[in-house]
Amino acid sequence: MDKKELEQTLVLIKPDALKNSLTGYILSVFSEFHTGLHYCGAKIVHVSQMLAGEHYAEHRGKVFFPAILEYLMGESHYPDNPMKRRVIAIVYQGRDAIKKIRDVVGPTNPLNARAEKPGSIRSLGTLFPLKDDEGNVIGQRMDNLIHASDTPQSAEREIKLWFRPDDMPPLMHIYPTEASSEFYYFRENKLYREYEKDSICILAPADVAWKSDLEILQNISRGLPAAGSLHSVVAKYLINSGTE
Ligand code: PPS
Repeated sequence: MDKKELEQTLVLIKPDALKNSLTGYILSVFSEFHTGLHYCGAKIVHVSQMLAGEHYAEHRGKVFFPAILEYLMGESHYPDNPMKRRVIAIVYQGRDAIKKIRDVVGPTNPLNARAEKPGSIRSLGTLFPLKDDEGNVIGQRMDNLIHASDTPQSAEREIKLWFRPDDMPPLMHIYPTEASSEFYYFRENKLYREYEKDSICILAPADVAWKSDLEILQNISRGLPAAGSLHSVVAKYLINSGTE
């Protein structure tokens, strides 16, 4: 099978889509019958600050950054109901998966989606004004219902951020994996090789991890420069652990 057949993409069905009961519609639009794509992995995630921050890391410092974290974490749509703060994360696979999903999702900004691609999923989205402490409008947040990877590079980064290898069938792994030969523990933003009180075991010997994650952990634990942050590896191991 050629590489194009195996292309994967990450979709996040965001809290506004869940709140508006659009999940069934969205899954139907993305179905194999309509797109020719297959499911690789799916999970319901209570999104932590760490995971949201890593997901949108390239937007850190922008005026809308705090607002998109609150949005992804479900705080904006469920201020009084933490139990309902969820995102559905799905990996789809197949020929031109990234483009096929982006086509039905539509432009990022819901106003552009309505103008340029009526009928696309994001054409059902809204814009939410962002205000400073004095009430002046300083920007807007795009409540666009769906996140979808836009390039093969971002798909790889995002899939590895949200999913562990054992969240999907081994035959569907398209990124290299490796068994850990060491223990790794995490506590208060630090990595440990031995158990510390109140630390969380991220990986144990023989656990299968993304190879790139293991390289990051190995380098960090040896005090060497690493290709990614500790949070970019650890966030997925804390998903739904109740410790975020
Ligand atoms: S951009 O314009 O290149 O920064 O856009 P992009 O990298 O495609 O996605 C930016 C994500 O942030 C969300 N967002 C906003 N972007 C720009 N401006 C404003 N005001 C804004 N509000 C929210 C946007 O929806 C993108 O997230 P996803 O999850 O991909 O939709």
